[in-house]
Amino acid sequence: MRVAVVGATGAVGRTILHLLQERSFPLDEVLPFASPRSEGKRLGFRGEEVVVLGIHDRWFEGIDLALTSAGSAVARRIVPPAAAGGTVCVDNSSAFRMDPDVPLVIPEINPGALENHQGIVANGNCTAITALMPLGPLHQRFGLRFLVTSSYQSVSGSGMKGVRELAEQVDKLHEEVETLTSPDREALPVGEVFGRTIAFNVVPHVEQFDPEGSGFTTEEIKMGNEFRKVLVIPDLVCAATAVRVPVVTGHGVSIYARFEHPVTPEEARAVLAESPGIRVIDDPVRNLYPTPLDSAGIDDVLVGRIRRPAGDDHALLLFAAGDNLRKGAALNAVQIAELLVARDLVGNR
Ligand SMILES: NC(=O)c1ccc[n+]([C@@H]2O[C@H](COP(=O)([O-])OP(=O)(O)OC[C@H]3O[C@@H](n4cnc5c(N)ncnc54)[C@H](OP(=O)(O)O)[C@@H]3O)[C@@H](O)[C@H]2O)c1
Repeated sequence: MRVAVVGATGAVGRTILHLLQERSFPLDEVLPFASPRSEGKRLGFRGEEVVVLGIHDRWFEGIDLALTSAGSAVARRIVPPAAAGGTVCVDNSSAFRMDPDVPLVIPEINPGALENHQGIVANGNCTAITALMPLGPLHQRFGLRFLVTSSYQSVSGSGMKGVRELAEQVDKLHEEVETLTSPDREALPVGEVFGRTIAFNVVPHVEQFDPEGSGFTTEEIKMGNEFRKVLVIPDLVCAATAVRVPVVTGHGVSIYARFEHPVTPEEARAVLAESPGIRVIDDPVRNLYPTPLDSAGIDDVLVGRIRRPAGDDHALLLFAAGDNLRKGAALNAVQIAELLVARDLVGNR
């Protein structure tokens, strides 16, 4: 089994390499790819060094499985020829998620969607996955009908450049924190990734505003589309607000969900406690609830603050926190790869 990791020097790609080792993925050889900038760089893998390769026309030859995380534009160019050439590709970008011929898979929720893959499997948006982990089992039991989410998204969701931009701004501002009670707005640092000051601030703008003028951002629109596709609820009414926050890793999502059947917080906790990949942390009396920092570096999505709004016994409020680089990206992709191998769905199309 020869496995390519495309985007191996990036935030997601590095985590994929780490998880392939941590989870003893059954591979004979790993081939890291990145942009021409990184060609020849050396990365550690299983105690040895592997050399980063550049993408060329027939990059996929001899490769059984490719885990690709190099952005949508690169994916659109390099993934279809690889899939046509027999390399099964699990792609982390948004390029193919809404393609009706491409399964969008969260192994704990819709593993069956993998069966008829045509060579490309899409990994979901990191915030959508964090929300879908609890919503999947709750939908199964109570029938999801209506959804409002507000997400608090970490800077590593924009890749390594997002982390660097936050670090630079914190560095610049940390000695003048008290002046931020009445800041000199002209002097605030503004970077290329977030377009506004992200240190000591929150920015209700993730990706671009909808060119059609709906007022939503492309990130918010993607979330609704992915909820509908993964849960197979084409008419699900949902609305998202995505906010960038100065957290390094770990996305938080506040969820308001309405169900066809009545539901109590106790019933929801019981369903979630039995669901794989979820850890319920919900004891307000002892100040126990999830935070994004608690979720960083671990596999489970943390869920708490489960409660019911007064006067509506079909609705729930809850808060989920998940590592956007692990379950939101690399872990989910590696789990898909594990399922593909276990079901003999690599190299047999
Ligand atoms: N970060 C997250 O939380 C997250 C979650 C879910 C999905 N995703 C998706 O995953 C993808 C990668 O995100 P990231 O956060 O890892 O970004 P990143 O840190 O910016 O890494 C991008 C990677 O792509 C490589 N790359 C860029 N241009 C390339 C080219 N022309 N050919 C080959 N490789 C190229 C880069 O190589 P160099 O180092 O050489 O530039 C780097 O390895 C994106 O599509 C993103 O939307 C990210």
